[in-house]
Amino acid sequence: MSSFSHQTVLLKETVAFLRPRSTGRYIDCTLGGAGHTLELLQQSAPDGQLLCFDQDLTALNNARVVLADFLQTRVNLVHANFREVGQVARDQGFYSVDGVVFDLGVSSPQFDEADRGFSYRYDAVLDMRMDTSNDKTALQLVNEWTEHQLSRVFSEYGEEKFHRKIARAIVKKRADEEIRTTSELAEIVKGAIPAAARRSGGHPAKKVFQALRIEVNDELNALREALEQAFELLTPGGRIAAISFHSLEDRIVKQTFLKFAEGCICPSDFPICQCGRTPKADIVTRKPIMPSDEEQQSNPRSKSAKLRVVQKR
Ligand SMILES: C[S@@+](CC[C@H](N)C(=O)[O-])C[C@H]1O[C@@H](n2cnc3c(N)ncnc32)[C@H](O)[C@@H]1O
Repeated sequence: MSSFSHQTVLLKETVAFLRPRSTGRYIDCTLGGAGHTLELLQQSAPDGQLLCFDQDLTALNNARVVLADFLQTRVNLVHANFREVGQVARDQGFYSVDGVVFDLGVSSPQFDEADRGFSYRYDAVLDMRMDTSNDKTALQLVNEWTEHQLSRVFSEYGEEKFHRKIARAIVKKRADEEIRTTSELAEIVKGAIPAAARRSGGHPAKKVFQALRIEVNDELNALREALEQAFELLTPGGRIAAISFHSLEDRIVKQTFLKFAEGCICPSDFPICQCGRTPKADIVTRKPIMPSDEEQQSNPRSKSAKLRVVQKR
């Protein structure tokens, strides 16, 4: 059970922004290895209350052990997608909260356990589901989606320049036989990308794997929905801290926070405001917070992390 190992990113910074206190109520939308949860519990001792979400049962099973001392008294774990955070929180009696954490993306065990089929680094059947009770898998997309659908996903969610060539190569290959494994897919992608482009920018299949993972788990739509609901749950002065790991996630976090903080949108030549909009929030981090050099060195996966924080008025 404790082979579950995930090094928490921006731990102290994230929790400090939430200003934990003993009367506080917090939601961790991405429990994972429970790093942020544990720190929040410690810093809001003795009475701070936490509600934690994960859609991955492996993470929840591990957390039941790690958080055993707090389970009956201060922490509640739910197996749910954070896109349901509003309803689930109310069902659990969390009608208003002081802080919400999102530490997006996948945990290290999801990447590193070969049979989860997330990574081109291990040969396994294509899968990529964070919640293994869902139907949609990467295997299904790669073998059943049209060339046009695949190309669109690679372009939108992977920002992959060679999306058309790759989609065409996949459709051609699967006409002979099903594409079953991460290694088979990685080889097809590699073969479809021009040799010169293969030499830069990391593993040639990185963007395609990211795109499939986002589509399988509907990650960006879930994030949009969850940020809105989390903001509704916040008490005045309450904060959302969101850590993203790629530009598509960061753009959603940034634009959603800006929308919360936006005031009057009337044209500048209107003598008085007609729209009646007032800001509902203040941006706490004008620029995103990045991991220190030390953290980036000791945990290379932290390199792309960006933390943004918003506070409700
Ligand atoms: C980066 S890890 C979180 C690590 C955690 N903060 C820690 O310190 O150990 C992200 C976790 O969020 C979960 N997750 C991602 N998207 C989710 C969603 N839409 N709903 C619920 N859980 C989600 C993943 O299953 C994963 O366990």
